[in-house]
Amino acid sequence: MHNIRKITEDVIYVGASDRRLALFENVYPIERGVSYNSYLVLDDKTVLLDTVDHAVSREFLENVDYALSGRKLDYLIVNHMEPDHCSVIAELVLRYPELTIVGNAKTAQMIKQFYSFDVDKHMHLVKDGDTLSTGRHTFAFVFAPMVHWPEVMVSFDTSNGFLFSADAFGTFGALAGNLYADEVEFDREWLDDARRYYINIVGKYGVQVMNTLKKAAELPIKMILPLHGPIWRENIPYFLDKYTTWASYKSEDKGLLIIYSTIYGDTANAVDVLASMAAEKGIRNIHMYDASKTDVSVLVSECFRYSTIVFASPTYNAEIFPKMEMLLTELKAHAFQNRDVAVIENGTWALSAGKKMSEILSAMKDIRIVSPVLSIKSSLKDEQIPLLEEMSDALVKSING
Ligand code: FEO
Repeated sequence: MHNIRKITEDVIYVGASDRRLALFENVYPIERGVSYNSYLVLDDKTVLLDTVDHAVSREFLENVDYALSGRKLDYLIVNHMEPDHCSVIAELVLRYPELTIVGNAKTAQMIKQFYSFDVDKHMHLVKDGDTLSTGRHTFAFVFAPMVHWPEVMVSFDTSNGFLFSADAFGTFGALAGNLYADEVEFDREWLDDARRYYINIVGKYGVQVMNTLKKAAELPIKMILPLHGPIWRENIPYFLDKYTTWASYKSEDKGLLIIYSTIYGDTANAVDVLASMAAEKGIRNIHMYDASKTDVSVLVSECFRYSTIVFASPTYNAEIFPKMEMLLTELKAHAFQNRDVAVIENGTWALSAGKKMSEILSAMKDIRIVSPVLSIKSSLKDEQIPLLEEMSDALVKSING
């Protein structure tokens, strides 16, 4: 059964949500599901902006068919060629043989890589800044390379100020009837997933996101229509501000984040003592995670969120404990930078985790190690309390400073 929502008289939401998928991109846990957004514009010509993932293709095709009410589909604008948005292109070409596909040269190349139909026969190539008029609506194409793939562009409808923003301004989380960010408790229920989505999917490409934000700032945007999650029609500066913070690698919140690995509990005990010291010194925003218990995508997102971070790990096979090593590798892969950090290591005979963690962190841009590495031999001892006090003082100074 079709399930559409009218955004205006001639702009219709025809996307769908998936609550069965466990891992987005087969990597990121999505307990709240995900939506694959697609938009149909019923102008003199009919225009579809992006398609969906295979998983929701049946509902999507029913939606498009119903919303077209017997009209044929004239244009498909492909803003992004990742398969969560492009999986239904060949099916649309079969259903609408006269379909014109609008995209750039890289888009066309990727369509040819994914599909075997005669792409050139259907392709209408556009360059950065080109426009396409379909009657009342005119779409201006703004290239947004690496947000999140090189072919990505966003489409700005100059007739109504709608920005079809591809992956940008998207979020994990299935839609449940409510289509707009102002219809849900975004800050309370969605922001963590929005941050985790941004950091893990495009966090590496902050420079490119900032370039796109600069281009977007010149547009009279009335509505942002992303490919995942709710549409923004109110309070747009709130979300633009979040994106600017994330893309510029600034911390979103002043606070102490402690991420530890522990095998038998002694490293956990040390960071518990440290957290209490920080709390007694007035720090109120302390968050602690066991790297073995929390998905690394959450940990990476939290590292981007907070100003001041402690990494604590045992030595394991003369290396960093694997879960902590994975976190540091992921942080490096996402261009993590510009934070105050401290390192704690533990080991019973050959301490080496602290040195190796410090080396990885020091190789990242503007990572400031604010306190000497604290080395624990098996368990924290009374004589090390002054060293822990010193570390907590440095962390407090980082947060308050
Ligand atoms: Fe939602 Fe980069 O695809």
